[in-house]
Amino acid sequence: MAIDLKHEQAIERADLRQLRDIDINDVIEYVHEGITQWPTSLDLYKKYSVQRWNVYDLDFTQDKIDWQTKISPEEKEAFLAIATGFHHGERQVEADLSPELLASDSEEDKIFLTSQLEDEARHTIFFDHFYREVVGYQAPDIRGMLDASYEHITETFVGSFGYLAYLADRLLDRLDDKHLFMRFLTTYHLWIEGVLALSVMKTTLNFCRSRNVLPGYYTGFNATTRDESRHVQFGTSVMHRMLQQDPSLVADIHESLRTVLSVSSVASTPVFYDPIGYTAEDIKNIFMDQLNRKLRAVGVSLPPDLEAMAKNVRAEALAGG
Ligand SMILES: [Fe+2]
Ligand SMILES: [Fe+2]
Repeated sequence: MAIDLKHEQAIERADLRQLRDIDINDVIEYVHEGITQWPTSLDLYKKYSVQRWNVYDLDFTQDKIDWQTKISPEEKEAFLAIATGFHHGERQVEADLSPELLASDSEEDKIFLTSQLEDEARHTIFFDHFYREVVGYQAPDIRGMLDASYEHITETFVGSFGYLAYLADRLLDRLDDKHLFMRFLTTYHLWIEGVLALSVMKTTLNFCRSRNVLPGYYTGFNATTRDESRHVQFGTSVMHRMLQQDPSLVADIHESLRTVLSVSSVASTPVFYDPIGYTAEDIKNIFMDQLNRKLRAVGVSLPPDLEAMAKNVRAEALAGG
């Protein structure tokens, strides 16, 4: 489903007040419109300069009322199980981006990555405010708030983000290793941002929109989704460029997908999406659609063993971002 030029331009330049009314499904399409145009890192940095938003402008007053009066205990449980991966995920992608900046061999890429780092730090503050002001957790600082929401964390977070932490650590020691760098890019930009994050954005924001609840969360997270368009477009562009130079790097894309798909087929603390309006089949389809679109953009297909693994992914094991 492509979006028309008028919609694209409206998303491109929308301020926070306008993002309150823009449909999340259009923002998700906006991410994909940009991918195959292969924007340069400076094009994306220029967009960041226009699209950067102020997290302190968000107003959670109505969200707090909605959370207490319009959202059932089952909906809250599902919502928190899904959103908490983001609360912790934003903090981790903020911390794990530095090795990528150090390993990049292009000055333009490094400049873009400083803007992504700032985005991820702002997203961490956004979730901190949501848990503090709406969910009602109390903590003296950002670390304390992360500890407060930790009980909702699932294996998907530990699996995919644990792998990212491992790759980030290794990359720091081997900044010139292109194979390791490609595994890092695949795990960070293609899987965590391009598949996990965008799928969770689609489900939780459609829940808010269809129920007409949590306007502050909707606005901030819609702005976050637009930020992700730049991160995913950057990551897939770098992957595409590196593959053109060295086609053997496709083996590293496959290997990292083998790891993240295997941790996404088990769940001892399952996440149920039904309370926010999605069946397990819907979730699987959304995740697989997001994965296939990114792979197509980068120009990679899956070998038979990975195709089979992708089919075995369990919706109950997919959350976070
Ligand atoms: Fe983020
Ligand atoms: Fe991101």
